Amino acid sequence: MNAEKKNYCLAIPEIGLGTFGSDRVSAEDVAGAVDGAVRAGYRMIDCAACYGNEAEIGEVLEKILKEGVVKREELFVASKVWNDMHRYVRKALTKTLTDLRLDYVDLYFIHWPFPNYHPPGCSVDERNPDSRPFSVEEFMDTYRQLEELYEEGLIRAIGVSNMTIPKFELTLPLMKVAPYACELELHPCFQQEELLAYVKAHGMVPVAYMPMGSPRRPDRDICEGDAVDLAEPALLKIAKDRGATPAEIALRWAKNRGTVPIPFSVHHYQENLDAMKLPALTDEEMAQMASLECGSRLVKGQVFLWEGAEDWRDLWDEDGTIAG
Ligand SMILES: NC(=O)c1ccc[n+]([C@@H]2O[C@H](COP(=O)([O-])OP(=O)(O)OC[C@H]3O[C@@H](n4cnc5c(N)ncnc54)[C@H](OP(=O)(O)O)[C@@H]3O)[C@@H](O)[C@H]2O)c1
Repeated sequence: MNAEKKNYCLAIPEIGLGTFGSDRVSAEDVAGAVDGAVRAGYRMIDCAACYGNEAEIGEVLEKILKEGVVKREELFVASKVWNDMHRYVRKALTKTLTDLRLDYVDLYFIHWPFPNYHPPGCSVDERNPDSRPFSVEEFMDTYRQLEELYEEGLIRAIGVSNMTIPKFELTLPLMKVAPYACELELHPCFQQEELLAYVKAHGMVPVAYMPMGSPRRPDRDICEGDAVDLAEPALLKIAKDRGATPAEIALRWAKNRGTVPIPFSVHHYQENLDAMKLPALTDEEMAQMASLECGSRLVKGQVFLWEGAEDWRDLWDEDGTIAG
């Protein structure tokens, strides 16, 4: 990698609060959870423009900062540029900063590595005729815009999300500012060992999305054959033996693996924060957890497919090549 410059953001906390309401939880209720979670001790919030609730979260952040519950420099706020704004990142960030009522974000992700747009809440069968396969040039054009905003201090670190090793191999050598973090789907039934090792080996913080296996994800994202992580017998047994909940074990496992989990929660955020204090899983427990891996990818991304793509596997370069 050519990237010599180091990011200068605050070190990322060990757990964050997810803020995607999965079409089930209102923006106001998500903002209420942010309020409660920061007061409970969370120091990282994982936001995104496309979750449709940054304005409501911004009201809460402003109130919390004014009240002195936490200082701005103690809070790690992440957001993401949505697919339809890849060519207008400054505009997207300006809107996010206005909505969140902040002068900068600690981490700004490219939410998906291609500009394929779909409207919020659309069916998985919907296709946008403008969708196209991954392009190094297009991705790097977006990345360069983030590098500029990083130089200006408006984003304190750059993140990428939903990447694959083949896409990293083509883009990492071209980056001037190293990506600080990579957000990827990680839960007991979808462990992505190879990608996780790659992310770590290249100095990125792995941010684990859907760490509980997203039990209340939107109906459109629930497919036959998807695993139900929190109901897995091996996980239930470890939880029972330790007098903990399966969710706590899933989060402690995420910490054991050196990842930063970002569970969404309006009802369990205190429990999830407390899970970080549990004793580490033993080697034997880690081996039992490893046996849960069954390739159960929950975010398949069908809506991002382009004309000519065969199926959602084309998005994930499973055979080591970039489709299209
Ligand atoms: N970069 C990306 O493309 C991407 C994609 C997907 C998600 N994300 C991020 O990752 C975050 C997390 O993903 P997610 O919300 O889909 O899945 P998740 O965090 O795995 O699951 C959230 C669900 O689990 C429940 N839950 C949380 N803690 C629990 C506990 N201790 N016991 C029992 N149930 C518990 C929550 O219910 P309650 O609310 O009732 O507690 C909520 O329904 C998102 O909010 C978003 O910020 C990023």
